[in-house]
Amino acid sequence: QEGNQVTGYLLFSLGTAVIGSLQFGYNTGVINAPEQKLRSFFNATWVERYGQEISPGVCTIVWSVAVSIFSVGGMVGSFSVGVMANRFGRRRSMFLVNCLAVIGGLLMGFSTICSSYEMVIAGRLVIGLFCGLFTGLTPMYVGEVSPTPLRGAFGTLHQLGVVVGILIAQIFGLEALLGSDKLWPLLLSLTVAPAVLQCILLPFCPESPRFLLINLKQEEQARKALVRLRGSEDVSKDLQEMKEESAKMAMEKKVTIPELFRSAAYQQPLLIAVMLQLSQQLSGINAVFYYSTGIFESAGVKKPIYATIGAGIVNTIFTVVSLFLVEKAGRRTLHLLGLGGMAISAVLMTVSLLLKDIPAMSYMAIVAVMLFVAMFELGPGPIPWFIVAELFSQGPRPAAMAVAGCCNWTANFLVGMSFPKLEEVCGPWVFLIFTTFLLLFFIFTFLKVPETRGKTFDEIARSFGSAPPAASSPVEEAPASASTAVKASPVKEKV
Ligand code: GLC
Repeated sequence: QEGNQVTGYLLFSLGTAVIGSLQFGYNTGVINAPEQKLRSFFNATWVERYGQEISPGVCTIVWSVAVSIFSVGGMVGSFSVGVMANRFGRRRSMFLVNCLAVIGGLLMGFSTICSSYEMVIAGRLVIGLFCGLFTGLTPMYVGEVSPTPLRGAFGTLHQLGVVVGILIAQIFGLEALLGSDKLWPLLLSLTVAPAVLQCILLPFCPESPRFLLINLKQEEQARKALVRLRGSEDVSKDLQEMKEESAKMAMEKKVTIPELFRSAAYQQPLLIAVMLQLSQQLSGINAVFYYSTGIFESAGVKKPIYATIGAGIVNTIFTVVSLFLVEKAGRRTLHLLGLGGMAISAVLMTVSLLLKDIPAMSYMAIVAVMLFVAMFELGPGPIPWFIVAELFSQGPRPAAMAVAGCCNWTANFLVGMSFPKLEEVCGPWVFLIFTTFLLLFFIFTFLKVPETRGKTFDEIARSFGSAPPAASSPVEEAPASASTAVKASPVKEKV
């Protein structure tokens, strides 16, 4: 049926775009395993330069800077995404941004040869910039080329790329593979390979038809791209929908970030977008992904590395589950389910840490972490990333992605930085902080987040009342939109 076609070419284009997601995941997960190797490298450079050992305090500072500067790069990168995506287009931006992966990868890869720990830090910063840009570019491109009925399922591909990237990094990071004394620089610089691959494949992908039509006014090019993506000559429905959006764009124009904040019409979707990003990060997921080995250790687990990889596997499986559920159950339901489930798992986690002297509790800790991760991937993992592209139409979308992405990275940074300290202060109670956040975001989602499944971008924008009144009348549509309107209205009233 029209609008629902999945062609090989569409899958190829999506697959190429999510190489960026894979990169984000890989670089998120990669720094965990080789911690001790990096620390001894910092020490070796120090001895070489100053003739004395690095003090433990300084070593820890260098280490935490190397870890967290990645998120700082991410904040800056994600914030710049709007400008890039509008100026160069979606496809060319992805192409150009890959330069950063090459530079960052080489800096880290040659750090030992040049005896320079600064190169590791600089490399992590550049890689952070790169990942920040991709956390905006990939979901935007995927959202814009996907047929409406499958936008959520394909949107979840971004997160699937992320989790597979994390898993690959966890496995490659094993001592027996690339996590050894000699090979860790290769482990860190491996990110260059997918970057090159993506650059080879991107020229065969289409530019986003929405960008072609709405931003560049190249209707013929847009039509051609659509014909190839949908595998059908009749793309009039897609085109028509874009033109309606385009007509409004003429009034909306490209929206800058300050305009996004000023305009009343965007306040509601912006609030939702930001809160969903915060719910993703303040759920505490990265306390697990950055520090799980330590958490398992303190719960008395014997081989924590394998439990960590186990968490990576559960993570991947449940992202696939979500991919199949998201167009059936809807975004809202899955997000609520995920947040609720995580809150319960965090309580279980707390119990197992409190009672860790009972031997069976180490199993409970493993179960609790797995459940936490599984619930995360049902909703809070994938949904925030793609829903921002859904909540905004073409004009404000890039600016909104930038703001939302930047909030995500900032919260990521804060959790990553503060968790070790929080753990020190709160001991086994630390996960209750996340429980509190999870419950608050559950309430927010319940009250404010509308269902966007199956609606066109334009219908979603209208449900927030952000479409200019003059343009909204002539859109007559089939029963589908009537039922959507019914579904949307109670939300609008509450809002
Ligand atoms: C999401 C988060 C990321 C996290 C990952 C775990 O993509 O944005 O921070 O590490 O999920 O699967």
